Amino acid sequence: MAIDVILGLQWGDEGKGKIVDYLAASYDVVARFQGGPNAGHTLKFDGKKFVLHTVPSGIFRPGLINLIGNGVVADPITLAEEIRKLEEAGVDFKGRLLMARKAHLILPTHRYLDAASERAKGKAKIGSTLKGIGPTYMDKTGRNGLRVGDIMQRNFEEHYRNLKEKHLSLLAIYPDIDFGLAEEEEKWMQSLEVLRSLELVDGEYYINQALREGKRILAEGAQGSMLDIDFGTYPFVTSSNTITAGVCTGLGVAPDKIGEVIGISKAYCTRVGSGPFPTEQDNELGERLRTEGGEFGATTGRPRRCGWIDLPQLKYTIMLNGVTQLAITKIDVLNNFDTIQVATAYEVDGRLTDELPYDICETDISPAYEAFQGWRQSLEGITDYQGIPLAAREYLRALEAYLGVPITMVSTGPERSKLIVKRVNAPTP
Ligand code: GDP
Ligand code: IMO
Ligand code: MG
Repeated sequence: MAIDVILGLQWGDEGKGKIVDYLAASYDVVARFQGGPNAGHTLKFDGKKFVLHTVPSGIFRPGLINLIGNGVVADPITLAEEIRKLEEAGVDFKGRLLMARKAHLILPTHRYLDAASERAKGKAKIGSTLKGIGPTYMDKTGRNGLRVGDIMQRNFEEHYRNLKEKHLSLLAIYPDIDFGLAEEEEKWMQSLEVLRSLELVDGEYYINQALREGKRILAEGAQGSMLDIDFGTYPFVTSSNTITAGVCTGLGVAPDKIGEVIGISKAYCTRVGSGPFPTEQDNELGERLRTEGGEFGATTGRPRRCGWIDLPQLKYTIMLNGVTQLAITKIDVLNNFDTIQVATAYEVDGRLTDELPYDICETDISPAYEAFQGWRQSLEGITDYQGIPLAAREYLRALEAYLGVPITMVSTGPERSKLIVKRVNAPTP
């Protein structure tokens, strides 16, 4: 068997949680391979809403295994809180929520450092979610980090103290900020008990054994490809590889095991935090998209920046990920627009190009737009592709033609049921 991948093609919040939750019914295992509690994946079904940060979005499907892979960075505090909410909702996750021993731990002082380093950047701040993601990955690559498996070792507390002390001396170079370290530390230590109660596994053996047994596995991305540490709008990015390549290192699977790659894009585009966004509409139009799309961060509640869909950007991330199918979400948000704009090229130094410039932060880009007619009607109750209004189908057809990848799913609302599935190469349930 191969491992299928679902990931965001823009700057995050494309609706990954919703699509993973829907498709999970066709899989045996859902695995997160990177990121951490900077993610906020929203799921809506049976009149309920859940936002997941570290737990994979297959957790509500009975019997399905959910693996938090080695590429993830986990904060015991937020994880314990998520688990508490699952218990409250009556979700039976015992034996179904697995955690890779090699996943790295976010310490309270990682969050402290995140906040202090952002403060020091002033106007140049990344707009981080302040969940400690950057400092934790820095310790991982700097070979100082603590891993989940370490919590079972006798000398864990000593390693914890050493790392904490190192962080405290580093903090001296940053401006003073308020951070209730003693309180956070106490919560953290208590939350380790919740972590110890989970099934800790050697994720790489687990996943390869599952593949050999013919299990159907779906890898769930966090963030979006434009936030990838190597290929995103650096330095306004996150600290992990959010692209398909991250599945191999974040779970321990070889590249030849990758199957379908489902790329998700909104029918328009958003970004939260600082950094370049060529098709941003920092005006009334953007505000309208934000209102109609409910564009406020699932993790931080911050208003998201909104703009039109950007085809050169999508072409780039489709190339990086080897996308085989596209899911277009939030098309319903465009229901009341007379005209929908699509960026089809960038004008840079008076020349048209469909490639992203090296320094997208410093380069002056004017997107060239093509206008499409809106459909001006609700999509409520439409369950098959042919039922989609002609103008909306023309819009989708134009995206497919430009991007050269088939659209297999169109999402028309936040609920699990509001999904038009044209053709998915997912395994049969
Ligand atoms: P993720 O991080 O990619 O999982 O996305 P988020 O959950 O952060 O943000 C997506 C938001 O859009 C959530 O509030 C979802 O409930 C909502 N959503 C997902 N798909 C649709 C859709 O097709 N239409 C509408 N109107 N909302 C959607
Ligand atoms: P999901 O999985 C949208 C953004 C932050 C900031 C930058 C770096 O819900 O799509 P970090 O906390 O990683 O140091 O922040 O990346 N960011 C996200 N934006 N969705 C996310 O996750 C994000 N995770 C991080 O806003 O600009
Ligand atoms: Mg999100």
